[in-house]
Amino acid sequence: MKIRSMMIALALTSAAAASRAAAQADGKALYDEHCKKCHGVVGRPPKTMKEKFPKIYTFDAAFIAARSDDSVVKILTKGKNEDMVSFKDKLKPAEMMEIAKYVRELGSKSHP
Ligand code: HEC
Repeated sequence: MKIRSMMIALALTSAAAASRAAAQADGKALYDEHCKKCHGVVGRPPKTMKEKFPKIYTFDAAFIAARSDDSVVKILTKGKNEDMVSFKDKLKPAEMMEIAKYVRELGSKSHP
């Protein structure tokens, strides 16, 4: 009985880990598809984009410290201006949340 419940717990833990991994993979895939062009592979915009959009942000520690995942989702839903437009026709709310988490992950890595 004890072993059985341990096995169930183990199965649940690995299922949770697998779905977490899948969620992260989705966040990256969605980011690469919709955001990378302007915001850069690791969240640091390429020079050409910085020239085109002087106000564009680098997704670094300071950036994510100042924003919650919800606030990123809000930007993606409503858009900010003509440069950072709404993605509500392209992304579902759950996808926006995956991207917000991925942006946070990028910001927590140091990239000078
Ligand atoms: C066409 C280029 C472009 C694309 C594509 C783009 N962005 Fe942006 N983004 C910008 C620019 C430019 C700004 C700065 C806007 C400003 O403040 O004037 C910005 C700002 C932001 C901000 C900060 C808003 C704030 O003030 O808090 C977030 C978050 C963001 N983008 C996330 C994303 C995500 C996630 C995606 C992909 C779904 C994405 N962007 C796609 C150009 C882009």
